[in-house]
Amino acid sequence: MHPILVGPLATAGFSAFLALVISLLDGKLNDYGTVNVTINGGKKKLPVRGGSPLLGTLAGEEIFLPSACGGRGSCGACKCVVTSDVGPYLPTETPYISAEEVSRKIRLACQIKVKKDIEIEIPESLFSIKRFEASVGRVRDLTYDIKEVRFDLRNPSSIDFMPGQYVQLAVPKYGDITESVQRAYSMSSVPGDPGNVELLVRLVPGGIATTWVHKFMKTGDVVQLIGPFGDFQVHDTPSTMVCVAGGSGMAPFKSMFNDMRARDSFPGKEIWFFFGARSTRDMFYLDELRKLEKEWPRFHFVPALSEPKPEEGWNGEIGLITNVLDSHLSAKISAGKPREGYLCGSPGMIDACIKVMTKNGIDPRDIFYDKFA
Ligand SMILES: Cc1cc2nc3c(=O)[nH]c(=O)nc-3n(C[C@H](O)[C@H](O)[C@H](O)COP(=O)(O)OP(=O)(O)OC[C@H]3O[C@@H](n4cnc5c(N)ncnc54)[C@H](O)[C@@H]3O)c2cc1C
Ligand code: FES
Repeated sequence: MHPILVGPLATAGFSAFLALVISLLDGKLNDYGTVNVTINGGKKKLPVRGGSPLLGTLAGEEIFLPSACGGRGSCGACKCVVTSDVGPYLPTETPYISAEEVSRKIRLACQIKVKKDIEIEIPESLFSIKRFEASVGRVRDLTYDIKEVRFDLRNPSSIDFMPGQYVQLAVPKYGDITESVQRAYSMSSVPGDPGNVELLVRLVPGGIATTWVHKFMKTGDVVQLIGPFGDFQVHDTPSTMVCVAGGSGMAPFKSMFNDMRARDSFPGKEIWFFFGARSTRDMFYLDELRKLEKEWPRFHFVPALSEPKPEEGWNGEIGLITNVLDSHLSAKISAGKPREGYLCGSPGMIDACIKVMTKNGIDPRDIFYDKFA
C-alpha cells in the first residue's frame, strides 16, 4: 500500500470502529422502550421498539423504503422527510443530501435511529411495496460472470410492476457472512409473467450478494424479494428512445422491450438500443436481439465491442460505446425528431453517455438512468 494512504485509511478504520463501539454500547446501555412512528401527518401511527435505524424499523412493520446497499449508507436511496427533531445530520448522510434537500428535511433512513417519537413523510406508493417469498428456479450462465436467475414467487404469488423497476434481493447468511444483506437488482422479466421474477446478476469479485448468487445459491433455495422500486421506466412521449447498456445493465431493457413488443405499447416510439462490451465473451442475447430487430421495424440494435480480437470474427461496431453512440447520434438518429436517453449500467458509463447525449442536443431533463452502484 502506498504510504500516503496509510494515515487516512487508519483514521477511517478507527472512526468506523468507534462508531460500531458507540452503537453497540448505545444498544446495551439504553433501553428506548416503545416509541411512535407517525407517518404522513397521522395516516399511520406505529408503536415500535426504539433503538434501531428508521429503515429497519419500518421494514419490521412491512413498510419498505428504497435501498440499494442494504442500509450501509452507501447508496443514498433511502431518503425520507423527517419533520420531527432527530438531531444533526451525520457525516454518513451529508454526501447524499443536497442543501435543497436539507431545507426539505430529507434524511437517510438507514442512518438515523428511532430513539423517541418520530414524524416522517413518505410517498403513498411505498405502502404497496411487498415482501415476496420466492424459490430459485432456472439459472443460466449468460457469460462467464453474468447469470440469468428466475425466481418463482410463492407468497404472494404474483407481482405488479412497471418494466424498468427493481427488487431488493435479501441474500441469506452463508459462509463467513453472518448477516442477511439486501441488494438491488433490476427485473428483466415482464409484467405479463407476474408469477416469476427474472434477474441478471453480474459477479462482483468479493461482493457479498453476487458471490452467493454465483457460488452458493441452488435451485429450490428460498429467498425474499422486496419491491417493486424505482422510477426508471418508459416515458409516454412520441420521442425516440436512445437506450444504452453495458453488462447486466441489459436487465431493465430486456423487460421494457419484451413488454412493449408483447403489448404493442407506445406505438409511435422508435427505439435504438446500444449495448457495449469488451469482447465476444462479454456479449449475450445477441441472437435474440438481432432477431427482434428483424421482426420489429421500430427497434434498432447496435452491439459494439471495444476490444475484439481478430480471431473472434466480430462483424459489428468496434469502439467504446460512447464513441459508437456519438457517431450514431450525429449521423443516423435524426435530431429533427425529439429524443430521450435511457441508460443503465456502471456510474462511469452512464456519466460518459450523458455527456455524449447532451453534446448531441438531448435535453438533460430527458435523460433517465439507473446507476448500478
Ligand atoms: C437500482 C439498482 C439496480 C441494480 N440492478 C442490478 C442488476 O440488474 N444486475 C446487477 O448485477 N447489479 C445490479 N445492481 C448492483 C447491485 O445492487 C449490487 O451493488 C452488486 O450486485 C454488488 O453487490 P455485492 O453484494 O455482490 O457487492 P458488495 O459486497 O456490495 O461490494 C463489494 C465490493 O465491490 C464494490 N462494488 C459494488 N458493486 C460493484 C459493481 N457493480 N462493480 C464493481 N465494483 C462494485 C464495492 O464498492 C465493494 O468494494 C443494481 C444497483 C442499483 C442501485
Ligand atoms: S439504504 Fe443505502 S444509503 Fe440508506
